[in-house]
Amino acid sequence: MDLESFVLEVSRLREEAENAFRDVRDAASLEEARVTFAGAKSGKLKSIQKLLGGVSPSDRPEAGRAFNEVKQAITALLEDAHDRLAEATASPAAAPLDVTLPGRPVRLGRLHPITRTIREVQGIMARLGFECVDGPEVEDQWHNFEALAIPPEHPARDPLDNFYLNVAQGQDPLLLRSQTSTVQIRVMEARKPPLRIVSLGRVYRPDTADATHYPMFHQVEGLLVEKGTTMAHLKSVLRLFASSFLGGDVHVRFRPSFFPFTEPSVEVDMEWGGRWVEMGGAGMVDPAVLAAVGYDPDQVSGFAFGLGVERIAARRYGVADIRDFYRNDVRFLEQFG
Ligand code: DAH
Repeated sequence: MDLESFVLEVSRLREEAENAFRDVRDAASLEEARVTFAGAKSGKLKSIQKLLGGVSPSDRPEAGRAFNEVKQAITALLEDAHDRLAEATASPAAAPLDVTLPGRPVRLGRLHPITRTIREVQGIMARLGFECVDGPEVEDQWHNFEALAIPPEHPARDPLDNFYLNVAQGQDPLLLRSQTSTVQIRVMEARKPPLRIVSLGRVYRPDTADATHYPMFHQVEGLLVEKGTTMAHLKSVLRLFASSFLGGDVHVRFRPSFFPFTEPSVEVDMEWGGRWVEMGGAGMVDPAVLAAVGYDPDQVSGFAFGLGVERIAARRYGVADIRDFYRNDVRFLEQFG
């Protein structure tokens, strides 16, 4: 084959390839063009390469150069077409859009009933002058027990003494707090009286889950320390809170009880809709606790209370099983519209 014919073949091939790759619209046609032109066995490039052998040795360098050029050109065409396709499928304009479809309403989420309860309680207590403060969920033994007058050998420690963290040997133990009463201590250590605070958050206990228990739940802790505080103030605050939260005239009942950090101590029941329900504990802050944080028990007195958030939410929303709060079943959650 003479040089002129070979060069002509090469330029025809180039034109043909340019047209073919320009028409590539999808992965299948790209693959087809690739096989046609650059296929290793019977691609057109391969056929032309075979013709090279028929060119006279003196013309072969020139013919070889022409062949290399078309080979590079086809490789570039292949890459371009590939990039073009990748870009088209990535751009949103390529996604088929049915402009005749009717608009769909955006589905708005809503706050979890426990979060709503927490915010509502904070709002009511704020109106009664109680500042909302946070405390850590990982606590040391001083704040979770000792400062609350629960020494290591105290039997009240047993049902609470559980979720310990791994700490380096020789370091003080850390645990997930079992009550929000820890925040009373943290606030009193950091500030001077008078004080009115509430703290709402998670606590952890080694409880088996049933309709009224869960190993993690939430508490509302309240603390007021001022001159001349009495049990009457405590009851008034709880009654105002209960009436605001549940609506109507809610009766509050105190039953004598024991907590290491209050003296006297009471269980707090609320009557709503004809039923008494136990909501938590309360009492006058024990002088030993006031002393532990450096307050003078002869100068100030205070009250404290701790209520279960799940309990008051269950009462308010008519939920019979607190486990439902944590199942993440939208059919349950959607009821709190
Ligand atoms: N911390 C107690 C508990 O987890 C509840 C409690 C009782 C909190 C009496 C108080 C209180 O502040 O005064 O069972």
